[in-house]
Amino acid sequence: MKAVIPAAGLGTRFLPATKALPKEMVPLVDKPAIQYVVEEAIAAGIKDILIITSRWKQAIEDHFDRSLELEFYLKEKEKDEHFNEVLQIGCMSHIHYIRQKVPAGLGDAINHAREFIGNEPFAVMLPDDIIVSEKPAIGQLLDMHRKLDAPILSLEQMPKEEISRYGVATATHMDDRLYQVHNVVEKPPAEEAASDLALIGRYILPPEIFDAFDRTGEGHGGEIQLSDAIDMIIEERDVYGYRFEGRRFDSGTVTGWLEANIEMALTHPTYGQGARDVIKRLNGTL
Ligand code: G1P
Repeated sequence: MKAVIPAAGLGTRFLPATKALPKEMVPLVDKPAIQYVVEEAIAAGIKDILIITSRWKQAIEDHFDRSLELEFYLKEKEKDEHFNEVLQIGCMSHIHYIRQKVPAGLGDAINHAREFIGNEPFAVMLPDDIIVSEKPAIGQLLDMHRKLDAPILSLEQMPKEEISRYGVATATHMDDRLYQVHNVVEKPPAEEAASDLALIGRYILPPEIFDAFDRTGEGHGGEIQLSDAIDMIIEERDVYGYRFEGRRFDSGTVTGWLEANIEMALTHPTYGQGARDVIKRLNGTL
């Protein structure tokens, strides 16, 4: 199984931090957001990853490249822990890159993976969604995919006031965390949302999605939307939703990013104690 990570977006929700820095490189505690997503893929056994980038995103490629000067320097100074970490990031998995030249939407970005994917099912992982879980979220979807041999969408129940920020699924509950999905609508107004089941950025998709992109016109925001292509696929075959186990953060918004930093810092092996001390100290002043 190959994975596609679309990282071509302009990151306007996070300006001015993302004026020159790709939003995927904004750190969560001590690692850029996209590294968590690459690590999640690797932990689920995915070896080939295509990152869809765009202009001004070279920092992503540099991050996953070897940095011989830095490695040499760290080795010389006997900073072994940093040396090992930097070396390991530079050797992570097989990461490939392609650029989306025009910001024509998430669907258009993923459509750039057509040749890389070929004729196999594949994973899509949106790097704004950071999921902390015991078993990697994409691995949970992969298990379901192996069982059902069908496309699987990740789902999370969302409060009404937040639902209009997501693709929304109409679905029948089947069993435990599993749903059959009947249709998906990209970012409907809250009063028109058919359910509280939001699509989260982890998907196992069939290769037919690429033909669906060709038939998908401009959708929400005048862009080619992944949700619209998925909706077409649902007319042709069974598609399932899986309410994954784990805590998910929307690191693409400043509030979601703050929340992720605070919660993830509290359990961090190196910075956890410091973070807990800060929170305790602030507690009395809030
Ligand atoms: C994208 C998808 C949307 C999905 C969301 C999950 O939206 O288009 O269907 O619910 O990711 O994070 P974006 O957040 O990129 O606007």
